[in-house]
Amino acid sequence: MRWDERQRAMLREMGVRLWCPQPDPLREAVGSPPPPAERGVGEAVASHPKLAVAARVAVQPSTVATLGWPALREAVAACTACKLCEGRRQTVFGVGNEHAHWMIVGEAPGEQEDRQGEPFVGKSGQLLDNMLRAIALTRGEAGPARQVYIANTIKCRPPGNRNPEAEELAKCEPFLIRQVQLVQPRIILALGRFAVQSLLRSSEPVGRLRGRVHHYQGVPLIVSYHPAYLLRNPEDKAKAWDDLCLAVETAAVAAPG
Ligand code: URA
Repeated sequence: MRWDERQRAMLREMGVRLWCPQPDPLREAVGSPPPPAERGVGEAVASHPKLAVAARVAVQPSTVATLGWPALREAVAACTACKLCEGRRQTVFGVGNEHAHWMIVGEAPGEQEDRQGEPFVGKSGQLLDNMLRAIALTRGEAGPARQVYIANTIKCRPPGNRNPEAEELAKCEPFLIRQVQLVQPRIILALGRFAVQSLLRSSEPVGRLRGRVHHYQGVPLIVSYHPAYLLRNPEDKAKAWDDLCLAVETAAVAAPG
């Protein structure tokens, strides 16, 4: 059956999720699977090798733990595990050096990130870049010691930039965990309440969690304010600087040899 836009809109309104409600970027990238004709969606998907991976990933988070970079990227692009897939222009996977010593984890893509497919490209991204530059780090081309890897806790933009929901964070976390496993950073800098609370399984405010070393997936993690918060509250930039200094010290201690 083919779904036209009115049917999709009605079903969305009723809270019914279609497996493939949007033009599918993976389908475009790999070409169409054999026509579904009389078959169910699951069967048609399973018969296409690349789409089959995507479908399993949506339902089986443990599969994610086995993926290398290219397959992980494809799995994120095709993910339909939560309703955020319905409103996204594209997924926002991550950017930077795949062996970076530093990993920066933000919350969720905003409008600019959803358009450009890269994390932290709006105003808060400019502030983040300036903060990183102050400690001789960059998202631009450089070796793993100087070029960071940047990702978000969720890979799709929540509609209207609303706060991510617990279920969305939970569904997306296997992707972030796999990114951490592949990058193997020496330090994670977690920015903003939703990233911090979701990674640390805590409901404490950022102000109470910052200033000490936590761990995520065995990696030392430093908590700091989200750049968007700092733009609204510039008086807290000094605290964010302290957080960066703590992260520098912690990364140095974590360095092998
Ligand atoms: N805020 C985030 O937390 N992440 C982004 O990518 C952009 C804004």
